[in-house]
Amino acid sequence: MKIFLDTANITEIRTAHSWGAIDGVTTNPTLVSREGRRFEDAIKEICSIVPGPVSAEATSLDAEGMIKEGIQLSGWAPNVVVKIPITAEGLKAVRELTARGIKTNVTLIFSPIQALLAAKAGATYVSPFLGRLDDIAQTGMDLVRDIVTIFKNYNYTTQVIAASIRSPLHVAEAAKAGAHVATVPFKVLEQMIKHPLTDIGIKRFLDDWSKVPR
Ligand code: G3P
Repeated sequence: MKIFLDTANITEIRTAHSWGAIDGVTTNPTLVSREGRRFEDAIKEICSIVPGPVSAEATSLDAEGMIKEGIQLSGWAPNVVVKIPITAEGLKAVRELTARGIKTNVTLIFSPIQALLAAKAGATYVSPFLGRLDDIAQTGMDLVRDIVTIFKNYNYTTQVIAASIRSPLHVAEAAKAGAHVATVPFKVLEQMIKHPLTDIGIKRFLDDWSKVPR
């Protein structure tokens, strides 16, 4: 399973990239707004650090606007993936952007049928938001599992990005469910590295090492 970093923060991206831990980046308008800089500058810099796919979201609500934005965004760097919300206008835009060879990530997916429609329109990726479903007491991981099954049943090449991830357990469960990608906040990536027994083990080795005559 690929790991994308879900952030627009350059320090986090540089750090995660230096660990060899990330295959791509996803952003959304909320994450970009936290950085207080021009959208274009932020996306271009991220694309120059990470060679893998970098999702940048279109904010128009009509297909014409989304297509226009998508063409513009994809011109910023070769690894830009245009994020489009799942709406009727969004599907229209995905169809047109796909026909032009532009990669898309259909976002705000909350049902398997939404994902199926996105795949039919030619989406490169779909992003089911599992944490936000968990927040309203629905099992987000069931959605990921159902989408993976549907895509397998009909040989869709659209990849499933498990998004809105809140914990390392989400990442492990997404991998078991067969998600192609998990996009994780930096904090979760840090948590994924850690294990208390690793820390205890390092300390014990160092304590014993200090007793070795040198
Ligand atoms: O980037 C989309 C998604 O990962 C957002 O997550 O935590 O705002 O639900 P969250």
